[in-house]
Amino acid sequence: MNVTESVLENIKTRRTVRDFTDREVSNSVLHTILDAALWAPNHRMTEPWRFYVLGKSGEARRQAADLTREWTLGNIPNQNQAAASADAVRKEMLDAPALIYVYSLPGGSAEIDEENYSAASCAVQNLMLAAHAHGLGVGWSTGKPTRHPGLAELLGAEPGSKIVGCLYIGYPATMPESERQTVGDVTRWL
Ligand SMILES: Cc1cc2nc3c(=O)[nH]c(=O)nc-3n(C[C@H](O)[C@H](O)[C@H](O)COP(=O)(O)O)c2cc1C
Repeated sequence: MNVTESVLENIKTRRTVRDFTDREVSNSVLHTILDAALWAPNHRMTEPWRFYVLGKSGEARRQAADLTREWTLGNIPNQNQAAASADAVRKEMLDAPALIYVYSLPGGSAEIDEENYSAASCAVQNLMLAAHAHGLGVGWSTGKPTRHPGLAELLGAEPGSKIVGCLYIGYPATMPESERQTVGDVTRWL
């Protein structure tokens, strides 16, 4: 496969992964995929992304998982379902081989805030593609792990930052399948 083919192959075979083996993810490979994230396009060179790596058995990971459990307990109306869901998300966060939170920085205006958020999302895609090239899988969540209002302070995110996601990272135990529409379905050639 030539370089062009392997780039396209890497883009198309990347999947959202949430089912991981127990294999440890080294800080060295995390550094490599974070470095790829930094090369995302960003208008005005604001480099508006911030990453928070929560070590597997560190205090920050436990606290973020506890906050997520607390948020879930308070926000799912059916109390039986809430308890099970809260425990499940806490466990998933604690069990993930690696966990990274991503924020975008405030830009001082609605326009730059939006550009920064877009750029930080590009950074996440860079990170996911680099991870995939290293045999890792990433699950991007904007759900329960991102909702507790105390999370930004726990992580030390700059006031006014916007959360982009919580990334579960590890070596895939299973690889989901996905589908896309065709170019013809979503494109008008004018
Ligand atoms: C901004 C954003 C937020 C997402 N949030 C979630 C989420 O909260 N939970 C989840 O299971 N997947 C989430 N995903 C992953 C999508 O569900 C996934 O990309 C989609 O199903 C396509 O699958 P693929 O990534 O394997 O191609 C998110 C993706 C993006 C881009």
